[in-house]
Amino acid sequence: MIKLNNNIAALTTYLQAQKWLNNNESIKSVEKPGEGNMNFTLRVITNQRSFILKQSRDYVEKYPQVAAPTERALREAEFYELIQTVPQLKEMMPNLMNLDKQNNVMLMEDLGSGKDYSNLYEEGKYILEEDLYTVIDFISKLHTSITTETTDKKITNRKMRELNHEHIFIYPYLDDNGINLDDILPGLQKHATLLKQDEKLKSNVLELGKLYLEDGNILLHGDYFPNSWLKTKSEVKIIDPEFCFFGFAEFEIGVTIAHLKMAKQSDEIVKKALKLYKDKCSLDDQLAEKFTAIEIIRRIIGLAQLPLEIGLEKRVELLNEAHKTLIK
Ligand SMILES: Nc1ncnc2c1ncn2[C@@H]1O[C@H](COP(=O)(O)OP(=O)(O)OP(=O)(O)O)[C@@H](O)[C@H]1O
Ligand SMILES: [Mg+2]
Repeated sequence: MIKLNNNIAALTTYLQAQKWLNNNESIKSVEKPGEGNMNFTLRVITNQRSFILKQSRDYVEKYPQVAAPTERALREAEFYELIQTVPQLKEMMPNLMNLDKQNNVMLMEDLGSGKDYSNLYEEGKYILEEDLYTVIDFISKLHTSITTETTDKKITNRKMRELNHEHIFIYPYLDDNGINLDDILPGLQKHATLLKQDEKLKSNVLELGKLYLEDGNILLHGDYFPNSWLKTKSEVKIIDPEFCFFGFAEFEIGVTIAHLKMAKQSDEIVKKALKLYKDKCSLDDQLAEKFTAIEIIRRIIGLAQLPLEIGLEKRVELLNEAHKTLIK
């Protein structure tokens, strides 16, 4: 497999071999388009245009010692292919222009130097109401338009789901998972230990994990949280569906709500957004709440930490609330 890097001569050779460069097109510069962990992403600026390259490899880009499913870019590409039939979805995502299946490389439209919404975790940062509605509108459109009734194609994304399953439903609850939470926030470890001692909680979490691994009838983005929402100059766009699969809406919505809570967004707005979703889609509220609880726990005591600014007291409050929801 060819491993892309940011060397202009090597990139030129690769792009020419793929026939992805136009006549007289030459690369002027390359840059990192934004923060990411999993994949190699690069903005390529030529004398004619700019575009984004994204390559998945058999490891996590930022932590090369951690293995990851090599072909995840192909699953992401399948998502882009499936939404082509729905203009509203297509308009809100970058266009996939080329795909190299041998080397797991996508060439995508450059949405410009936008910023994702990860700053929502900062104290005092709130999402604009209209932006949240746009984000929710996208997901309700996705869940109602790409279903087993509307397409014969199915994305199972088994390997990525298994990876996510480990991180969400297993690692956080292991007695010794190598994470010292007191390094992240002093005093946090003992609260995690309390959770890990509750057998009922752990068995309920495993049940929900099984459900996550089951195939469902609607296409999910699979990783629907602020890092996958991009604010460009004037619009909200959705990126990075590498964890997509046909599953249950409750998982997707549960995760989204968890992040809005951890980012201390107003309850009133979160409720309105949820109502907006439910005007168009059906949702088992209790099940969604359980996935919210699971996502909160895994983000607070698991490996994939967020740049949270909430203090110990608030994190423990969220953990306790999640714990209660999961043993109901
Ligand atoms: N089509 C695009 N146009 C403009 N910027 C983009 C585009 N795709 C990605 N980016 C920028 O690059 C960053 C990383 O991209 P992306 O999230 O797809 O990579 P990733 O490796 O899957 O990241 P993560 O580890 O968070 O999953 C994004 O946050 C965004 O800032
Ligand atoms: Mg990603």
